[in-house]
This record gives sequence, structure tokens and C-alpha cells, in this order.
Amino acid sequence: MRLSSTFLSLSTAITAVLAAPSVNKRAACSSAVTIAQSENPFSGRTLHANAKYREEVETAVAAITDSSLKAKAAKVADVGSFLWLDTISTIPSFEGYLNQTSCEEIFGVVIYDLPGRDCAAKASNGELATGQLSTYKTQYIDPIVSIIKANPNIAIAAVIEPDSLPNLVTNSNLTTCQSAASEYREGVAYALKQLNLPNVAMYIDAGHGGWLGWNDNLTPGATELANAYKNAGSPSSVHGVASNVAGWNAWIKNPGEFENTPDGQYNKAQDESRYVQYFGAALSSAGMPNHFIIDTGRNAVQGLRLEWGDWCNVKGAGFGVRPTETTGNSLADAFVWVKPGGESDGTSDSSATRYDSFCGKDDAYKPSPEAGTWNQAYFEELIKNAVPSF
Ligand SMILES: *[C@@H]1O[C@H](CO)[C@@H](O)[C@H](O)[C@H]1NC(C)=O
Ligand SMILES: *[C@@H]1O[C@H](CO)[C@@H](O)[C@H](O)[C@H]1NC(C)=O
Repeated sequence: MRLSSTFLSLSTAITAVLAAPSVNKRAACSSAVTIAQSENPFSGRTLHANAKYREEVETAVAAITDSSLKAKAAKVADVGSFLWLDTISTIPSFEGYLNQTSCEEIFGVVIYDLPGRDCAAKASNGELATGQLSTYKTQYIDPIVSIIKANPNIAIAAVIEPDSLPNLVTNSNLTTCQSAASEYREGVAYALKQLNLPNVAMYIDAGHGGWLGWNDNLTPGATELANAYKNAGSPSSVHGVASNVAGWNAWIKNPGEFENTPDGQYNKAQDESRYVQYFGAALSSAGMPNHFIIDTGRNAVQGLRLEWGDWCNVKGAGFGVRPTETTGNSLADAFVWVKPGGESDGTSDSSATRYDSFCGKDDAYKPSPEAGTWNQAYFEELIKNAVPSF
């Protein structure tokens, strides 16, 4: 009897271990999800490892011959990350990814298709031109909202339009950003208003400490974001902002990477934890919810950039802290992976239409393909340099 009962519990344990992670089919919530504005949406919910990134990683794993690296790479498939809806054509596949989310998880999505997108750079220019705001509303935002409304039992975290409002604060002397400004403002407000649903938690993109963290940018930055929030009717689904999206800054680093430079004295937000402190205070003063999620997808290694503003495929980078609600900071709801590590930030081919000179700098990895497309060699570097390691 003893023997067989030991055998039984052992075999049960083995079945459980095999079944849970490989199939990823834990049950969806049986009733509608409501995320209170006072609640941390990530508390008790793990960021879902979406099937799009999982497929990219699994294809990458198959191409790796080194067995040790291959084993590490395979683990990346289980890390939660955000799905980027960066063109209208990505919307039909959205629901099939979304509805694989279990009740213990939250699905991350990036809203990223404003008219005149990426007005201060070239690598991520979008499909919609300035003047196409009605297309953005009716063919991009509205269909996404319909899909979310059809899936009320799933918790969703949405990052709203990376780089857009920050560009209006610091790049207003560029004609491209000037002509995009009114549609950015109206488009973001429209997205916030329409996505104000019980099961959605929104975070408006706020750049990073090296962007809106400059002393002179804190108040204008917070005002710009708060205006969008207020113009949307102060939606209760807005929890605050996303920082360091696709970025490289450390969470805590003293002194900061660029603190002891001549300009360092003009920026108190030398790491993302200090950005949370200072920009969080500015948001509160401006009358906006001030919780943060911070992208730690690629910030494991510091000291790589020649200048703080260098943003393209930084050479030597590693995967950072895995998504978690344990941040040690009451304003930081979670560390998340927003940028899917391995997808390029921009092409290094100087003859390409979307070539941006930042992708040709000495600290940028070359060769790199077009933004959003897979760079196998860069993915392997991220694994080798990961902290914590895989
Ligand atoms: C998930 O979404 C896909 C695509 O819309 C649909 O075909 C499928 O039936 C859905 N599955 C569930 C469980 O809702
Ligand atoms: C825009 O302003 C920034 C700093 O405020 C400056 O570095 C840059 O050269 C200006 N660009 C143009 C096109 O005037």
C-alpha cells in the first residue's frame, strides 16, 4: 500500500508538472473582470506570454545549435510581454492571441498607430499620414475596442502610443511634429475615451527619465499628458504612465549613467526610480493618476550608450528583470516587458527609406533589419547578457 500510494502521488506530480507549463491552457475567468482604479492591475495577475512572441522565440530557438544557449532561449518563450498593434492589419489576429489569457493573467497590448507616427525619427514611421485621424478612429481604435468588449472576462493592460506626447513636448521645433500635434492630442484622447472599459488598465507613454525627466520638461510633460487625460473625460481606466518603453535605463543606478556629465545637474531623474519620483509628483500636480509600469525588457546592462538619447538597437544590451508586480515602490505597479526583445528598433541599412542615423551610430548593433522584424543575432546577445541570467 505504501509503495503504491507513493507511486501514485509521484505520477500525479509528474503529470501536473508536464501539463501546466507546456500547454498554457489554464482557465479563463468565468465572469467579467473589473479592475478598480485604486487597484494594482498586476497584483495577483501575471503578464501573459502571448503566442506571437512565443512563436518568434520558438523559431529562434530552433535556429540555435549551441545546446546551452538553446536551453536558455527556450525559457524566453514563457516570459510575458506586450503585443504591439502597430498597423490596422494586425487587428484580425488580436482576438486569437487575447483569448488565450487565463484568469491568473493580464494581457499586455500596445496601441501604436497614430497619424504621422514617430514624428521625430524615421525608423518607426507609421502607415497613417497626418490628416488620417478619422481612419485612426474608425479603422484602428474602434475595431480594437469591439474585440475587447467581446472579451470582458479578460484583464488587459494597454500602453498608449509610445513616444507620441513626449515628442510634442521636446520636438515641437520639428515641422513633422508640429503638423502631427493636433492629431496626436485628439487621437490619444479618443483612444483613452474609447478604451475606458472595466477590464482595461491604461498607461499613457511618458518616455523615460532622460526625456521628460529634465527639470525643464517635468511640468510641460506632465501637463501634456494630463491634458490628454482630461480631454478624454478623466477615464477611470487610466492608472498612470508607462516609462522606458523599448528603452535602456536602469531602474536604480547611483550615480546614474549620465549623472556626472556637464548636463547631469539639469536632470534629477537619472534612473527610472527617480523618474517615478519626480515625474510622478509632476503628474499628481497636473491632476493625473501617477502610477507607473516600467519596461525592463532590455535594461540589464548599463554603460553602453554614447549619449543618453541613443535609442536604436543598443549594442551589448541584455534582457532585464522579468515581469513582476514586486517593484518595492508603491507608485510602480509593475516591471514589464513592453518591447519584445529580438525585434529590431530600426534598420541599419543607410539606403533604406526608414533609415534613421541613430541606427548607424557606433553604439548601435549592425546589421539590423527594419523596425519590428526579427534580429536573431541580437536576440542571442540579449540572452547572453541577461540579468538575472536565464
Ligand atoms: C478566440 O478567438 C478566435 C479568433 O477570433 C476564435 O476563432 C476562437 O473561437 C476564440 N476562442 C475562444 C475560446 O473564445
Ligand atoms: C530643436 O531644438 C533642439 C533643442 O531644443 C535642438 O537641439 C535642435 O537642433 C532643434 N532642431 C531644429 C530643427 O531646429
